[in-house]
Amino acid sequence: MRISKGRCLEPWVIGLITCVSLIAMSVCIGLTVHYVRYNQRNTYNYYSTLPFTSDKLYAEFGREASKNFTEMSHRIESMVKNAFSGFPLQGELVKAHIIKFSEENGGVLAHMLLIFRIRSTEDPGNVNKIIEYTLHEKLRDVSGSLQVERDSVEIKKINKTETDKYFNDCCGTRRSKSSNESLRIVGGTKVEEGEWPWQASLQWDDAHRCGAVVISNTWLLSAAHCFRIHKDANRWTASFGITIYPPTMKTGIQRIIVHEKYHYPSHEYDIALLELAKPIVYTNEVHRVCLPDANHEFQPGQELFVTGFGVQHKHGYLQNRLWQVQVELIDTKTCNQPEVYNGAITPTMLCAGSLEGKRDSCQGDSGGPLVGSDARDVWYLAGIVSWGDNCALPNKPGVYARVTALRDWITEHCGI
Ligand SMILES: *[C@@H]1O[C@H](CO)[C@@H](O)[C@H](O)[C@H]1NC(C)=O
Ligand SMILES: *[C@@H]1O[C@H](CO)[C@@H](O)[C@H](O)[C@H]1NC(C)=O
Repeated sequence: MRISKGRCLEPWVIGLITCVSLIAMSVCIGLTVHYVRYNQRNTYNYYSTLPFTSDKLYAEFGREASKNFTEMSHRIESMVKNAFSGFPLQGELVKAHIIKFSEENGGVLAHMLLIFRIRSTEDPGNVNKIIEYTLHEKLRDVSGSLQVERDSVEIKKINKTETDKYFNDCCGTRRSKSSNESLRIVGGTKVEEGEWPWQASLQWDDAHRCGAVVISNTWLLSAAHCFRIHKDANRWTASFGITIYPPTMKTGIQRIIVHEKYHYPSHEYDIALLELAKPIVYTNEVHRVCLPDANHEFQPGQELFVTGFGVQHKHGYLQNRLWQVQVELIDTKTCNQPEVYNGAITPTMLCAGSLEGKRDSCQGDSGGPLVGSDARDVWYLAGIVSWGDNCALPNKPGVYARVTALRDWITEHCGI
């Protein structure tokens, strides 16, 4: 057996090793702390007003969710985003969102929320100055027919509560998860709080029967067929939030207006308006969807989402937690082909799903929303879950009440 010699270290070597290790450790900790602090970002929220003149008249773009409103908003938001490209601070503009336009002594004022995420190492006083400077100096419209009076642009720092309130008062805004996540009812995925804030559950004697959609703080839309037998408004309640038990909010129904041309067993005009017993207060979790104009066009193949508490397959159970499924708009001509619905799709209906099956709404989802977004990530109601042959079968996509075709009826009965 061999015994190795000289394995014992000299005391000064041990001392040196300990010392070096301690230094290495403190450097590591120091770097980590610095890195965390350096990467920590603070949110800065601002309410900004931008006076401008344009070749378009206020009457043409002033109305929320109209095509011109969307175009004008998108244009101004893009201009502001461009102004902040190459932002001199360590941070970024994460959202520029027009909330409304107003008329001010001859000109027009765009009201906008600006949300920045800026490294916590920046001096807050400096941040405000640079944002203000950037808005005054760098706003340029490329096309030229829109003139922002840069010197009169104003910004005011606001807190999170105020920002949320402004955002929630706009139609069609939502707290979305990472948007690339596979959002693929039947073939769907569960939903996080605030993702589809306009979804409501309608309950008859406290049992979920149908879905509904928030279009204002006092009105919901749903499907006419939900009220074919159960007509007494007093026995219906609406609950909000992503679970039925416990709900985020709950309220009674005061009045049900079923489309006067809805006649069972026909599925035409399958739409109803519900007036709430008392107005709801909008929160991050509960607020309204946008109603599209009658001439708004959802494109065939466009990605839409349907949400509901309905069954997952024909003989399944109702869900306590909201589900979502991504579907595609299918044009009426395709949907009316003999092997699909053979001419049963009328102008007050639209088809969405997939012709291969697998992704669809189902029983218990009736009355719930089918929605699609625009380039600003604002969401519009395209359809209301109405009927279908079974659920998620090939060539039997879901059929929805076509909201654009029924848009005037909605205005006529509730003024929205
Ligand atoms: C936010 O600002 C509003 C108005 O200035 C104020 O009333 C409110 O107390 C503030 N909220 C918080 C959480 O600071
Ligand atoms: C979604 O984005 C994350 C990071 O942003 C990425 O890691 C992930 O692979 C993406 N998922 C898909 C399905 O594209």
